[in-house]
Amino acid sequence: MAKALQTYSAGLIIRQKEPINLESPLDQVDSYLTPTGLFYIRSHFPTPKLKPASYRLRIDGAVRNPLSLSYKQLRDMPSEMRVATLECAGNSRVFLIPQVAGAQWELGAVGTAEWTGVPLGALLERAGLEEDACEVVLEGGDRGTPTEEPVPPGPISYARSLPRDKAMQRDVLIAYQMNGRDLPLDHGYPVRAVVPGHYGMASVKWLTHVQAVREPFRGYWQTSDYGYWDYLDGKPVRRALGEVKLKSEITRPRVYETLAPNQIYTVSGAAWAGETEVTGIAVSTDGGQTWAEAEFVDPVQRHAWRRWKFDWLTPKKPGQYTLLARAKDAKGNVQPDKHDQHYGSYVIDHTLPIEVFVDGPRGSSG
Ligand code: MTE
Repeated sequence: MAKALQTYSAGLIIRQKEPINLESPLDQVDSYLTPTGLFYIRSHFPTPKLKPASYRLRIDGAVRNPLSLSYKQLRDMPSEMRVATLECAGNSRVFLIPQVAGAQWELGAVGTAEWTGVPLGALLERAGLEEDACEVVLEGGDRGTPTEEPVPPGPISYARSLPRDKAMQRDVLIAYQMNGRDLPLDHGYPVRAVVPGHYGMASVKWLTHVQAVREPFRGYWQTSDYGYWDYLDGKPVRRALGEVKLKSEITRPRVYETLAPNQIYTVSGAAWAGETEVTGIAVSTDGGQTWAEAEFVDPVQRHAWRRWKFDWLTPKKPGQYTLLARAKDAKGNVQPDKHDQHYGSYVIDHTLPIEVFVDGPRGSSG
C-alpha cells in the first residue's frame, strides 16, 4: 500500500509552525486545480500518523447495521471524483480592523482540488441510517487541548456534524485521493471527509468515526469555535457555521505591489459560492467609486471556484490605488462591502481592498 506523501513544497507561507498552518501563495498559482504541494493546510492539533494496515472507519449510532471498514474495503467500494474548492472560514482574517485573535490568514486559505472517494450517503445507506437521525457527526483521529477560550478541561478530538440532508448529498465524499494521488499526511491521510459547499472546517481530516445522532450535536468545534451569533425570537443563539458565502479575491497584483503607469496590467483572481453559482464579477480600481465587469476564465461548476481576469490600463499619475473585486451569484446575492460582526473572526466575505502603487518612470539618478 502506498506510503503517505511528503505534503508541502517551498512557497507555502507559514502562519503557524506547530500545529502546522500553511497558506497558499495564490499569486503564484495559475492553474484551476491548486497543486497539492501548494494547497493550504489548516490543522488544530499535531498530525496523527494513522496506518492504513490498521485503519478502521466506524459507522454507528442511529443506524441499523453498524459498520467497521478497513482502508482496503473502503477503497474497493465504487468511487466518485469531485472538483471542490475548500475555503477555511478564517480566510482573509488579516483584513479585519481592529485585528482579531486567530491565525492571520491573508488570501490563501483557499484552494481547489479533485477529490476521489466514496459518497458518505452510500456508506450511510449501507449502514441503514435510521429515519429519526437528524445529523451525522464526523470525528478525526487527532486530539489535543484547544488554546482559545473557553478551554475544555482535557484533550478533545476534532469532530463536526452535518445536517442529515447535507450528509446524504452525493457530493459529500469520504475521500482517499487528492488530485489523483493518495492524500498527503497533513491533508488527512489515509481518509478524510470532503464537504463541498461548506467551509473547510466541515471536511474532517483523518476520519475514523461517523456517528448518526438523534439530537443536534453541540460539540466544541461548532459552538465555541466555528460558530456564529443568530437570533431566535429576538434572543441570541449560537449556531454552527456551514455553507460558504459568496466571495471573490484578487490574487494578482499582490498587496502593495508596484505597477508601471499607463500600461495594461491583467488583474486576476477567483470567485466562489456555497450551494449556488457565481454569475458575475466586477472590479473597481478606484476604491469602489466605479466598477467594470471582469471576464471569467472558467465555466460554472457547482462547488468550484471560477477564475477571472480584468485588463486595467494603469493610471498615468503615480500614487496609491485601491483595487476591489465584487462577485454576484445566481440567487441574486452580491458580496457585501463590510464584515458582518455576527460571524466574529470568521466568514470574511466582504470585498477585500488590495492596495497597490503606481510608480512614475524612474530617473537615471535613482
Ligand atoms: N480535521 C481534523 N481532524 N482536524 C483539523 O484540525 N481542520 C479543519 C478541516 N478538517 C481540521 C480538520 C479546517 S478548519 C479546515 S479549513 C480544513 O480541514 C483544511 O483542510 P486542509 O488542511 O486539507 O487544507
